[in-house]
Amino acid sequence: MSQETAKSAQKATDRGAQRCILPGCRGAFDLRERIYVCPRCGGPLEIECNLDAAGKAAALREKWTARAASLEPRDRSGVWRFREVLPFEDSEPVVTLFEGNTPVYDAPRCAEYAGLLTLRLKHQGCNPTGSFKDTGMTVAVTQAVRLGARTAVCASTGNTAASLAAYSARAGLQCAILVPQGQITAAKLAQSMDYGAVICEIDGNFDDCMRLIQELGDDPSIYIANSINPFRIEGQKTVAYELMQQCSWRVPDHLVVPGGNMGNSSAFGKGFDEMLRLGLIDRLPKLSVIQASGSAPLAHLFASLDQSKPMDGSHLPDRIVPVADPHTLATAIKIGVPVSWQKALRAVLKSRGQIITVEEREIADAKAMIGRDGIGCEPASATTVAGIRKLVASGHIQPKESVIAVLTGHVLKDPDYVSHYHRGTLAQSWGDELHRPIIGALRNAPERVPATKKAILGRLQSRR
Ligand code: F0G
Repeated sequence: MSQETAKSAQKATDRGAQRCILPGCRGAFDLRERIYVCPRCGGPLEIECNLDAAGKAAALREKWTARAASLEPRDRSGVWRFREVLPFEDSEPVVTLFEGNTPVYDAPRCAEYAGLLTLRLKHQGCNPTGSFKDTGMTVAVTQAVRLGARTAVCASTGNTAASLAAYSARAGLQCAILVPQGQITAAKLAQSMDYGAVICEIDGNFDDCMRLIQELGDDPSIYIANSINPFRIEGQKTVAYELMQQCSWRVPDHLVVPGGNMGNSSAFGKGFDEMLRLGLIDRLPKLSVIQASGSAPLAHLFASLDQSKPMDGSHLPDRIVPVADPHTLATAIKIGVPVSWQKALRAVLKSRGQIITVEEREIADAKAMIGRDGIGCEPASATTVAGIRKLVASGHIQPKESVIAVLTGHVLKDPDYVSHYHRGTLAQSWGDELHRPIIGALRNAPERVPATKKAILGRLQSRR
């Protein structure tokens, strides 16, 4: 251990430390060091919270239930309500938009579609900026303020950018977002414009933006808010706590999430792992991650693993083969080099879940089916229901098992996609065919109807 690292390790405070996840290193660093990867070996960092100081399970449950009825700003936030497991002192000011507190819905039509008796959807699109990113951003921007950063930056397919722009505006911080030019939805870009961010449209894809972000991280005025930053994951892990509270601490058999840069899956893995150690739950749900088939580096890696060996997540492959030119109409997850792949893979293996792909048509129909349950979401979120359908068909999920899918973004994040699907004009324009139409099974285009009562009633009758 270098002298510098030893000093850092000593500085780890009562609230915890930043620790390298790689078994050969495990370097520990102070919570106030502005680092994003291990300074010693370049490995991914995670926050090691001092769980012993958090309190006993029964007391925590009671405290968290009481806070749900409180009017104190930190209690009203669905993230800071769980502050016993966050790496901040109680006295530190927080930057919040009252994120979290998102609903869990029963989705009977989706359940039937997927071949299940029941299915629940945790809708993270009901956050202040319309995506799950807010639960991580409240913590990342709080940390940026704590460190005295001048500018918060991120690379994004749109949602991280909108969220960072909003939280930076709340904190009075400058915000810069790097987005792939022409590849993010108009609605997401509009949000970042409104929140006053400096918007850098990059001539490249998301992975190019992410590479630039890592270069920018050296500048002392900059604070990186992508999920490579372990403080983001701390906020997002509280979604697992909130979900279990909503389920009266009864663990579902399966939890299914979409996969892009793999921050979300890493965060759920960490949250459930901690709850198990705290005695709040008695087992882990099987965590499965679904990728769009044209942007699926981790699913490819997962499929190549030797399934005959015991896979508990303690031995991870050293590298992932990037997808050089990723494609999907679910632009949120159009990512070829996921930064948090190791953490996500570890969580999936430990819980005995799966990482699989779904096709564009499957995503599109699943999205419309979620709509038929009265619940909108953006395309990336619908990979979950499409994936669950495949996992039921393959026998990984049994029809009677309890399953929760996480919807990550609001339906209005990508209204063009919705409209094209229902009008029959959605098309993928890559691969062997240049313009391959996706003719959805649940199309529902507007119809022209004469301006008479008779015509309207006639139309309703024909569709009953
Ligand atoms: N769903 C939505 C709606 C997203 O915006 C993202 C990621 C994901 C799923 C995948 O989550 O990256 O944690 O595996 N969006 C990022 C962004 C990349 O920049 O907004 P992940």
